[in-house]
Amino acid sequence: AWLAVAGPRTVLLAAPRSFCAGVERAIEIVERSLAHGPVFVRKQIVHNTHVVEDLGGRGATFVDELDEVPDGATVVFSAHGVSPAVRAEADSRGLTVVDATCPLVARVHASARRAAARGDTVVLIGHPGHEEVEGTLGEAPGSVLVSTVDDVDRLSVPDPATVTFLAQTTLAVDETADVVARLRSRFPDARGAAEEDICYATTNRQDALRSVASDADLVLVVGSANSSNSRRLAEQAVRQGTRAELVDDVSHVRPEWLAGARTIGLTAGASAPPGLVDELVRALGGLGPVTVTERRTVAETVRFTLPPLPEASP
Ligand code: F3S
Repeated sequence: AWLAVAGPRTVLLAAPRSFCAGVERAIEIVERSLAHGPVFVRKQIVHNTHVVEDLGGRGATFVDELDEVPDGATVVFSAHGVSPAVRAEADSRGLTVVDATCPLVARVHASARRAAARGDTVVLIGHPGHEEVEGTLGEAPGSVLVSTVDDVDRLSVPDPATVTFLAQTTLAVDETADVVARLRSRFPDARGAAEEDICYATTNRQDALRSVASDADLVLVVGSANSSNSRRLAEQAVRQGTRAELVDDVSHVRPEWLAGARTIGLTAGASAPPGLVDELVRALGGLGPVTVTERRTVAETVRFTLPPLPEASP
């Protein structure tokens, strides 16, 4: 099957792609905490199977909920953030908490708390069931979640004059604009610039992909199926009219996808390790000569400082 799709190819590499500053920080927090003793991580530290496997192999124990963490142990909260209820539970259990919540998620949490404090109903644009959404909703009692323009039409709030819009950090910029437009027409007095909650890394990866997808026969997005920003990248390529597949790594690429695909657009979600992209390029090189061209739309210089980490054991 692979022989049938052999031949020369062009790979258009979208840049920026792969790790963002929030993911790099979250991984470093787990690594450094591991140096001080056993570490439990609530949920996947970032939504990537390779990252989780790698840190698991180095000693981190991933759990779904805090009741799986022994009393007095060290627990890391994932980059997606947690609701105040989870923080309170960790406190009452006497757990040592290391918070890997991305500072840009924490910023949306702070906006949610401020909105709730002035009595606004928070309308959060996001995807149901995502961990980030659960955390942000938890910051503002009575908040509601919308995903689509139809959700906005069905929405009812106690007082349309006191509403604040917020957004999940990893949404599609173009789709969110439609939802925000409908929200603004229904609630002209509302506060909050939801579009600005979409983080720089999400925005930059979507812009970069846009510049390669229109010239590609196929777009491959490296990322895990539960990674919101990775899924948005694949969907965006499809909206541009280009076939797209989301793959955890090169082993998930199917030969039939490559049939007729002479130009391949390649990117990776913010939680996907850069080495996986290199592997994929190498594998395509095994099928024939490959010309790799990187198209960079912007240089990223964002870095975040680390939070306080556990003291080294004496
Ligand atoms: Fe943070 Fe955006 Fe990355 S919210 S974890 S910088 S995708």
